[in-house]
Amino acid sequence: MTTRNRARLSYKLRYAASNPRLVLPYARRLARDTWLRLRTRDHVSYYRAVMRSDTARNPDGAVGTPTHERWLALGQMQFDYLADHGLRPQDRMLEIGCGNLRAGWRFIQYLETGNYYGVDISPDILFSAQDTIIRYELQHKLPHLTPVQDLRLDFLPSGHFTVIHAHSVFSHSPIEVIDECLAHVGRLLAPGGFFDFTYNETEGEEHHVLREDFYYRRQTLIDLAESYGLVARPMDDWRKTGHKQSKIRITLPAGGEAEPRG
Ligand SMILES: C[S@@+](CC[C@H](N)C(=O)[O-])C[C@H]1O[C@@H](n2cnc3c(N)ncnc32)[C@H](O)[C@@H]1O
Repeated sequence: MTTRNRARLSYKLRYAASNPRLVLPYARRLARDTWLRLRTRDHVSYYRAVMRSDTARNPDGAVGTPTHERWLALGQMQFDYLADHGLRPQDRMLEIGCGNLRAGWRFIQYLETGNYYGVDISPDILFSAQDTIIRYELQHKLPHLTPVQDLRLDFLPSGHFTVIHAHSVFSHSPIEVIDECLAHVGRLLAPGGFFDFTYNETEGEEHHVLREDFYYRRQTLIDLAESYGLVARPMDDWRKTGHKQSKIRITLPAGGEAEPRG
């Protein structure tokens, strides 16, 4: 992680000078995103529209991997890490922002039947997730896939999930979306359960690029989790995977419950 602020004009000009072939794709993205922002009323609707446009082009690219080989490798990386850090076949898992099951198909394969629940704001990427289930012949595992409007998740049962996972979701989320998730996720956690999420970390000023990529200081997210009575622990060994984001694990306080939101 760095102190760079990618939203600053000086950063963009320097970046453009050293990567001239990326200028045109960036300009196209800027035009597309500006158009989508003008046509949508809030961040979730905007990002859903971004996902619709990206998924139509290439579903693997829409979740951030330009080739199918990278899609497979990124999913394997997430699975290996979680299997090494407490995942068991009997876990009941909620994956927030499951995308087209880049890691999800491996979780579904590993978990006992019916124990995987994926949610996403994008119906388009969930259609692609169904294709992934068919491709890996995982129908018999009865995975749940559900579109959501927000991260209150109040249609799901209290104290049910032993593992909650959100990879590369908060990296695309403004602070109010993360706040909403942290305010409600404690209700869903079973005693002894945990919620792992990744985020783009900066040691400098918090910022975003095109309202698509958000950069946070670690302490901001820890303080937010603690404000809801949750315990937050940085998972520093995640960086050994070579992935560019950081990871935090959230648990309920020992013997306690998260602060209910009023
Ligand atoms: C970079 S992709 C990662 C997908 C999956 N976690 C993976 O690693 O393959 C981010 C996903 O999060 C979804 N997403 C973004 N904001 C969300 C939100 N507020 N609630 C639920 N899903 C969200 C997007 O639609 C997209 O499918």
